[in-house]
Amino acid sequence: MSTDDNAPGTSPGASAGEPGIAGEAQDTQAEVAGHSQSGAVDRPYSEYLLVADNVVAGYVPEVNILTGCCLTLGDGEIVAVIGPNGAGKSTLIKTIFGLIPVRSGAVALRGTSITGLAAHELVEHGVGYVPQSQNIFPSLTIEENLEMGAFLRPELVKSRFDVVAGLFPLLGDRRKAKAGSLSGGERQMVAMGRALMMDPSVLLLDEPTAGLSPLYQDEVFQRVREINSIGVSIIMVEQNARRCLQIADRGYVLDQGHNAYTGTGEGLLQDPNVVELYLGTLAKT
Ligand SMILES: Nc1ncnc2c1ncn2[C@@H]1O[C@H](COP(=O)(O)OP(=O)(O)OP(=O)(O)O)[C@@H](O)[C@H]1O
Ligand SMILES: [Mg+2]
Repeated sequence: MSTDDNAPGTSPGASAGEPGIAGEAQDTQAEVAGHSQSGAVDRPYSEYLLVADNVVAGYVPEVNILTGCCLTLGDGEIVAVIGPNGAGKSTLIKTIFGLIPVRSGAVALRGTSITGLAAHELVEHGVGYVPQSQNIFPSLTIEENLEMGAFLRPELVKSRFDVVAGLFPLLGDRRKAKAGSLSGGERQMVAMGRALMMDPSVLLLDEPTAGLSPLYQDEVFQRVREINSIGVSIIMVEQNARRCLQIADRGYVLDQGHNAYTGTGEGLLQDPNVVELYLGTLAKT
């Protein structure tokens, strides 16, 4: 698809000249490598690896949970999404991944619209997703869980298993163990490993450290950095906001379904408004 078709302002619900939600977002941080300080999508979609532009979505008819969310992901970035409970963080990730219909706005990958594609099509396009909960098959072994991750391309299983076992040695060492017998932290490794089986270029992680011991939280953050260092760009939703912003290139604070603050991870950590409103109660370290 031509990127001209996807120029900012041409998506449904985003009319040129109107500030939209982006105009309401707080300009707290300097622009970072082509990503706008307001959170608005103000460049052609082709300049981003992934973009969600003015996305409106919800579950119940006529009730919008996302009321015009914008998010951009650059090649090689880790982008944090933080915000209070019920802000719409999971909804944003699920909408990007095609699990919830986009009511207006657009989602694009490498300049091509992926708005309205189903989740399995997103996987074929190189997007991996690790849900917030119920993200493994407990009755299957670790090996079988990982195989399920590549069921669309079985020829990848062997080579990808080796890559994933390199990142998560536990998964190789205990490949015959039932996933249901593992600890919460180990299950999270299985879930992340499974999402990596299709060799994604984008990984969407929804609260990967939730409910884990501090030791496993450390491990998850470390693995996220390693996964990123081998070329996977990452959008990571976290309640553990401070930790997440520490490893993120950029971050978005969502509140009540729209962008509240946007900036570098470091900039958001130092922003007094963000600290007062969002990091005081959310920070766990
Ligand atoms: N399946 C659903 N059906 C209807 N409403 C839903 C559904 N899932 C979530 N919601 C509602 O959408 C809103 C946003 O929920 P969402 O799960 O996206 O928030 P979140 O920011 O991920 O919160 P948390 O930090 O608790 O995970 C909430 O008001 C929630 O009640
Ligand atoms: Mg959530």
